[in-house]
Amino acid sequence: MDSILVKGGGPLKGQIEIAGAKNAALTLMPATLLSEEPLMLTNAPRLSDIKTMTQLLQSLGAEVTSMKDGKVQAMSSHGPINHVADYDIVRKMRASNLVLGPLLAREGVAVVSLPGGCAIGARPMDIHTDGLAKMGADIELKDGYLHAKAEGGKLKGAVVDFPFASVGATENIMMAATLAKGTTVINNAAREPEIVDLADCLRKMGAQISGDGNSSIEIQGVDRLGGATHPVVTDRIELGTFMLAPAFCGGEVECLGGRLDLIGAFVEKLALAGLDVSETKNGLLVKRTGDRVKAVDVVTEPFPGFPTDLQAQMMAMLCLADGTSVLEEKIFENRFMHAPELIRMGANIAVQGGTATVHGVEKMKGAQVMATDLRASVSLILAGLAAEGETQVNRVYHLDRGYEHIEKKLQGVGANVERIKGV
Ligand code: UD1
Repeated sequence: MDSILVKGGGPLKGQIEIAGAKNAALTLMPATLLSEEPLMLTNAPRLSDIKTMTQLLQSLGAEVTSMKDGKVQAMSSHGPINHVADYDIVRKMRASNLVLGPLLAREGVAVVSLPGGCAIGARPMDIHTDGLAKMGADIELKDGYLHAKAEGGKLKGAVVDFPFASVGATENIMMAATLAKGTTVINNAAREPEIVDLADCLRKMGAQISGDGNSSIEIQGVDRLGGATHPVVTDRIELGTFMLAPAFCGGEVECLGGRLDLIGAFVEKLALAGLDVSETKNGLLVKRTGDRVKAVDVVTEPFPGFPTDLQAQMMAMLCLADGTSVLEEKIFENRFMHAPELIRMGANIAVQGGTATVHGVEKMKGAQVMATDLRASVSLILAGLAAEGETQVNRVYHLDRGYEHIEKKLQGVGANVERIKGV
């Protein structure tokens, strides 16, 4: 298995092009199941999760062609559709559950393996299934699979009140409702930019959706959807990750394609930590002003709050801050797996339940480290940029799920990072 070798140093200088959002592409791709006409996504990220979604859609009978070096995904679901999403693919990636709503809307029936647990927590599907049940689906769990059937073969519009603003459930219900009979209202819907991006694409396909980006979304069902060409929104998590890089070893990085509206709560924390963020013609420029960043407290929340997917990277930065920071993780119950690895590099972190107290140290030291999820892995690479000596981050297959060519992007701004090919 490959690993990434990081040698501390700096300062950084240059530009990094931010890719299309993984989490948007993973919900836009299953939308192809809603129409017999082609759906073309431009600005798609080149990631292993996209390949997994491709395999899943192909197993369901969709045609998926990757073009322009993977940046364009052309999809079509004009032939017969198989409604069984198999465990062997679904277990690799939780986002596979996003075929449930589209399959049920198109076929009136869907059999989708439950994704199972993952490193960051249990992540159940009850909000998805309760919502679909309100729309007239009969859902049963058998042999690890959700067996869903729409009463009379077609879903009905309904008022769906979410107990929590789940991103995936909002996407599944929104897609399912586009072809349902009547009007669906999702209350306490998630407001993430990826939801707005999905709604934009569905509208291009002919769906009638309003309110996306707010906590109440209304979807008027239509008889059929057509094709569309849609550029995937910028990846705000990749953006935030690279915006943090100068905090570790000084200098300045311009993130091309970066937008403040995607990442407001995060930028507020960067400013408090003493980083200078400004808008440029092509994106966002970040500079470290002093020698050391300042401590700040962080609470993860649904959008527009501070994203859980940037918590690990922020913690890595705060390990080096002047003062004590408190990080509260409110989205996932087990999302501090990076803490013990950062401690191995010399950080001073105390974790208690969903709260981590980070006492900043002046220096961290390189070590062999290993991460068990995507964002934890990248936090260790960032920490390595500031550490004395060499840091070897092992098991990097997680990274390839969410960051395209990370070592090349960091090399491009002067970081000493290389991939070591494993056997
Ligand atoms: C999406 C993102 C993920 C991000 C997360 C929160 C994708 C592909 N993934 O994941 O990167 O970290 O949003 O911003 O877009 N929950 C339930 N029951 C459910 C559904 C969720 O209890 O039916 C809980 C989860 O266990 C978790 C919380 O709600 O504690 C948030 O989950 P959710 O917003 O659904 O995240 P995902 O869509 O899985």
